[in-house]
Amino acid sequence: MKPKFRAHVTAVTVLVVIGVSGLVLVDRILAQAAQKVAAAKPQTAGEYFKNVTTPLKELSVHDFLSSMGVISADLGLDCADCHTAAGTDNADWVVDTPRKKTARRMIEMVAGINRNNFGGAQAVTCFSCHHRNLRPASTIGLDALYGPPSEDKDAVVGAAPDAPSAEQVINKYIEALGGARRLADLRSFVATGKSVGYGGIGGSGTFQILAKAPDQRTALTEFKDHPERGDGIRAYNGRTGWIKAPRNLVKEHDAEGGELDGMRLDAQLAFPGQIRQVLKNLRSGAPETIGGKDFDVVQGTSSEGLLVTLYFNQDSGLLTRYVRYGKSPVGRIPTQFDFADYREVGGVKFPFKITFSWLDGKDAYQLNDVTTNVPIEPAKFERPRLTQP
Ligand code: HEC
Ligand code: HEC
Repeated sequence: MKPKFRAHVTAVTVLVVIGVSGLVLVDRILAQAAQKVAAAKPQTAGEYFKNVTTPLKELSVHDFLSSMGVISADLGLDCADCHTAAGTDNADWVVDTPRKKTARRMIEMVAGINRNNFGGAQAVTCFSCHHRNLRPASTIGLDALYGPPSEDKDAVVGAAPDAPSAEQVINKYIEALGGARRLADLRSFVATGKSVGYGGIGGSGTFQILAKAPDQRTALTEFKDHPERGDGIRAYNGRTGWIKAPRNLVKEHDAEGGELDGMRLDAQLAFPGQIRQVLKNLRSGAPETIGGKDFDVVQGTSSEGLLVTLYFNQDSGLLTRYVRYGKSPVGRIPTQFDFADYREVGGVKFPFKITFSWLDGKDAYQLNDVTTNVPIEPAKFERPRLTQP
């Protein structure tokens, strides 16, 4: 079992879970799936893959692969630890290795625990026991007992009666941004800057966000000096989304499942004046300290049922972190935005520094210009249709 892969993965922080070769493979799988389903309705993972039998079979192909990312992260593994020759051209994802068989049993076990003990709620996940260890620890070490408390926090925030109410925190945020009136007047914006990458990868491109209220958003990274790297695009037109990833063999797929729900939410929250319509069941949790600063924490649920946690700087009232969680039977699939360097443009504050992290990568962007209420061609939010031969 070998941490040669893991060492590589930790060194190159960008590719936290899947590793370069894993990413390429995932892209290949997604591209094949996309070709297969071009016209028809998207296939479930159970229909698309050859040997998928657990409750994961109900997921979209993308959400299934994200679940593989969750399992890998939760156990501290790489794809190759369960799948023969993953990371090479001879990868065999279908064959059942002994560890894969155990994992399948564990997936069924977790579904059973939640069904039989927690009314079907997702109370127990792989992480609950594994905490990034292949073999869960069953006994507390005395160093840990007398050491600092564990920093692991549950994704679901507990009630915190002493904390300011969600309503108060959101009102403060709206005021800090420039007030409800100015936010309602914001109908579109174009933000430009550069991609600074992360850990030395993905930098030196130009970056653009184009957004139109209430729910269209495209984020575009171009490498003009390195055309071979290709453009990275995430575009959502209010109904459908597509993704083109820069650093791979295979380039693009229509978003589906939790990924599509997430893109819709990103587009809606680009216009924070609508936050109360977009997120339901808003409630506040206990304030948290991150990097020495104090944050008010508010949690809500999107119309598609994604769990969303927002962290507001207690001094400025501004949103510093936004985490949304996709659903999977093995555990939630986190995607995170960090915002900094807020500057005022036309009376509304925008974050000029944005960091985007997901299970298999992390990217950072620095904006230098935001223009508000400009016309944006509708085609900017669409997937260019391939002309059929
Ligand atoms: C701890 C073991 C484990 C790890 C690590 C793991 N997988 Fe899996 N993988 C499984 C199991 C179990 C199944 C079968 C699931 C089922 O039957 O529902 C599976 C199935 C698959 C399949 C479907 C193959 C087919 O056609 O039947 C693909 C593709 C896949 N995994 C990709 C990945 C990728 C990519 C990674 C790394 C991000 C990964 N897996 C990491 C255990 C693992
Ligand atoms: C209730 C606690 C618990 C949960 C939840 C749990 N596991 Fe485990 N898992 C264990 C224990 C304990 C072992 C070690 C069993 C042993 O040593 O025989 C283990 C072992 C494993 C192994 C074999 C490790 C090896 O040595 O090769 C895999 C793979 C695994 N778990 C996958 C998963 C996956 C995937 C999930 C989530 C779907 C999960 N587990 C959830 C308790 C748990």
